[in-house]
Amino acid sequence: MINLKVQSAINEQIKKEEYSSRLYLAMAIWCETSGYPGAAKFLYEHADEERMHMMKLVHYVNDRGGNAQLMDIEQPTSKFESLLDVFEKVMEHEKYITESINNLYEVALTEKDYTTSNFLQWYITEQLEEENLFNTILDKIKLVGTDKAGMFHIDKELDGMAVAPAPAV
Ligand code: FEO
Repeated sequence: MINLKVQSAINEQIKKEEYSSRLYLAMAIWCETSGYPGAAKFLYEHADEERMHMMKLVHYVNDRGGNAQLMDIEQPTSKFESLLDVFEKVMEHEKYITESINNLYEVALTEKDYTTSNFLQWYITEQLEEENLFNTILDKIKLVGTDKAGMFHIDKELDGMAVAPAPAV
């Protein structure tokens, strides 16, 4: 049976991953309707990836004899200034998620729930990879500035970077 404090902290994280999925969906919609089909494809798939992050937590709680719970989530913003603005907001959000995962890890350690802390290692590695990925994308966008041809190429590149997420386990 999962420790109740740990369960409650994981349920909070489930909410955050679900919000991440909706936030990236809102960003993908903006990109698709603003002339960035490659960025849209990338973000649609990233929204799916966040749902996978959520589902992995849901299954974990239930498999440990607990109860995964869904919560109300706020509506994400749908207004963005530019592609740079979109990816700056992605980066800001991922940093917040990394902090949240670290806090969750701390709760598991404090509660001596080593099974959960071991399970959370996957998320810690994933956050590192995501922050690196978004940093690379942000650097490229900043490099081209407002150059239209440059933006076109970045959009093409994002199209190629879109990868279907692995199924939730
Ligand atoms: Fe679920 Fe992008 O972290």
